[in-house]
Amino acid sequence: MTTTGTRLPLIAGNWKLNLDHLQAIAFVQKLAWSLKDAAVDFDAVEVAVFPPFTDIRSVQTLVSADKLPIAYGAQDVSQHDTGAYTGEISGAFLKALECRYVIIGHSERRTLHAEGDDVVAAKTAAALKHGLVPVICVGETADDLETHGPSAVPVAQLTAALADVAADADIVVAYEPVWAIGSGKAATPEQAEQVAARLREVVAEALGADAAAATRILYGGSVKANNIAGFMRQPNVDGALVGGASLDIQEFSAISRFHQHVGV
Ligand code: 13P
Repeated sequence: MTTTGTRLPLIAGNWKLNLDHLQAIAFVQKLAWSLKDAAVDFDAVEVAVFPPFTDIRSVQTLVSADKLPIAYGAQDVSQHDTGAYTGEISGAFLKALECRYVIIGHSERRTLHAEGDDVVAAKTAAALKHGLVPVICVGETADDLETHGPSAVPVAQLTAALADVAADADIVVAYEPVWAIGSGKAATPEQAEQVAARLREVVAEALGADAAAATRILYGGSVKANNIAGFMRQPNVDGALVGGASLDIQEFSAISRFHQHVGV
């Protein structure tokens, strides 16, 4: 059993702007083979992919036809249900494609699309309203780290995101230090644990002790097969949100098989 107790570890691949729908079909099929070949125990780990919007229908068709044990979700969702919002995608549409999850507030959305805590909170509410599990991303920049220390910004971001969330809501939190994303310089397992423990306290304050015990907190930022074990040994880290390494089938499959090298 893992150190996360009753929380099912989640290994999530955020593809970002990579792989079209044809590539997605080939990728998910091969990933499923790889996990099956390695006899991955899906009672002990949940594996999820987050393809671009245009791939999701193809992934849904494949996963449902072949009953693949792979979850999927979107990388963003509109805070609106319907209406004159050019380019937006509603949570209702994602639910209709049987998405389980949606990433919200990724640092690339916060930075490149100026999404503030208010938008993140509204998108979290929209996801929950439509029966999607929000994967709420928080994390500090290198400047924040220097100025405010490791937890202040992630704690403030998560507090804002959870302001109007119901105590029984199913959520996932992803701690992604911005300085670790795509940099090849992952946080140390101890750094990830320190912030994850603080974020669990935030969940406890906002949603109560039961929610805090049940909520999975992921680490993201330069996760690879050769460093996943250190993160998964931490009591408050329940999985990983993987970017670059999620686009390499062997690497992502190896990360998903962390039990084989984590020793827990
Ligand atoms: P990398 O794994 O490429 O650092 O990206 C992390 C990330 O942003 C996942 O959402």
